[in-house]
Amino acid sequence: MELSRDETPQNDIVIDDDDDDPPILSSQALEALKEFLAEQNRPVVESPTAEEVALVAEDWRLSQFWYDRDTAETIAREVIILCQNVGSPSVACIACPTLYAYLKKIGPEVPVQLLEYDKRFEQYGTEFTFYDYNQPENLPLSLKHSFPIIVADPPYLSKECLEKVTETISFLSRPGQSYLLLLTGEVQKERAAELLGLRPCGFQPHHSSKLGNEFRLFTNYDPGTRLDGWEVE
Ligand SMILES: C[S@@+](CC[C@H](N)C(=O)[O-])C[C@H]1O[C@@H](n2cnc3c(N)ncnc32)[C@H](O)[C@@H]1O
Repeated sequence: MELSRDETPQNDIVIDDDDDDPPILSSQALEALKEFLAEQNRPVVESPTAEEVALVAEDWRLSQFWYDRDTAETIAREVIILCQNVGSPSVACIACPTLYAYLKKIGPEVPVQLLEYDKRFEQYGTEFTFYDYNQPENLPLSLKHSFPIIVADPPYLSKECLEKVTETISFLSRPGQSYLLLLTGEVQKERAAELLGLRPCGFQPHHSSKLGNEFRLFTNYDPGTRLDGWEVE
């Protein structure tokens, strides 16, 4: 099945509230709901091999599409190389929990903060910060201007979403040069250049589920031969 990422959140659930009585679920519906919730919390990879990481199931209502292993490892290795270029490295992963998980596996010593909307990732303890892009600066002050390396994968492909994530990036960036990596659809190419001064790399990210949208990695620095370099204009 081929999926495609939305420009905007889904707001198409209609609730008929003519009836004032509280809704009552049948025992079968309740059972089905319990099974659904248990499924959502079950790791996709039940018994990860030494190379894999355990991930929770994708929830497409939250626009969740996990990277495939090669993509997650490639970006994680790049981030680890960047850490060697900055004094007191720390990495912000905005809405990219798979990258967080691979970073912890490949470079467990790297300080990483995951900013995410899905509270299932509270399992990461103090390295999880609840984040809703609709409130781009509603974040702990301790995170302000603290990150020399920021990776973001916004949930939607809209102008509004990228503008708000840009505000979050400005909030998090350490003064001076911060390395920025943005993973998003090709359709955001011009906006990524305008808002954040980013250019596409040759390396193409892939997902475990087949996505219909062309997906790109944009950076604010030339990665040289890594990530297949900046695309020639
Ligand atoms: C396209 S996915 C990126 C995931 C990435 N490909 C990975 O494998 O880690 C977008 C992420 O945005 C998160 N998200 C959904 N709604 C959000 C919101 N309102 N604010 C911030 N993040 C949100 C989802 O939970 C999801 O992890």
